[in-house]
Amino acid sequence: MSRTQVDRNEEAIARAKAFDWWFSQFNGLYNTMLTLSWGRRHRRALPYIRGPRVLEVSFGMGYLMSQYADRFDTTGIDYNPRYIEVTGRRLKAKKIDAKLLHGDAHALPFPDASFETLVNTDAFTLYENPKKAMSEFYRVLVPGGQLVLMEYDYPRDGNLLGRLWVEWARLLKVPYIDFNTLLTSTGFTFEDHPVGNFGMLHMYVATKPLSATTAADANAQGVSAG
Ligand SMILES: C[S@@+](CC[C@H](N)C(=O)[O-])C[C@H]1O[C@@H](n2cnc3c(N)ncnc32)[C@H](O)[C@@H]1O
Repeated sequence: MSRTQVDRNEEAIARAKAFDWWFSQFNGLYNTMLTLSWGRRHRRALPYIRGPRVLEVSFGMGYLMSQYADRFDTTGIDYNPRYIEVTGRRLKAKKIDAKLLHGDAHALPFPDASFETLVNTDAFTLYENPKKAMSEFYRVLVPGGQLVLMEYDYPRDGNLLGRLWVEWARLLKVPYIDFNTLLTSTGFTFEDHPVGNFGMLHMYVATKPLSATTAADANAQGVSAG
């Protein structure tokens, strides 16, 4: 399979979702992993989060959200009700206010240009339709707004160990997405920061161009938004 393809393997997605379900049931273990290990990587997103309005899609246990939500007008959306409950408790314990909603990354229930930053970590490869989800991310950001996305892909510098990590993930049938192609074709410009596993783990800081036209603007002008 070519590197540029978006590899959507139904069986792989079903397996990833089942894995996610088990994680949500054993959230104490998941939380320990986040706090001890993945959390350090996730916190690298913090300097890139700008307000006032921040949306986190697929927040899971809300570890990252609990690190920034007190400083912004924060909304979270996840399709697993168990995570909404657990994250709600976690934020309440820290006296942090955030709107947590049940919903789907493919159909975000917000008007165009609603957020300055959209955060998404370790979830995107689970989505059935990456093009649709990415175009939703783009739509709800204001022009000049930023997507901060953490996922896996081939290392930018092509180093062997990073490539082997990716091949290993693909061998295990973790769904694969070519993020360079997907972000560019959606209309984002982006920086790509390596954040782990020899450059296999990326933090994409992607900007919606200031010149981007929202659907509302396009309707007002009688043209179709790209
Ligand atoms: C592996 S967890 C990652 C959670 C969190 N972002 C983190 O990094 O710890 C994947 C998350 O994606 C969510 N998810 C999967 N498919 C989704 C969809 N279509 N819409 C919204 N959330 C989804 C799951 O409920 C889960 O919270």
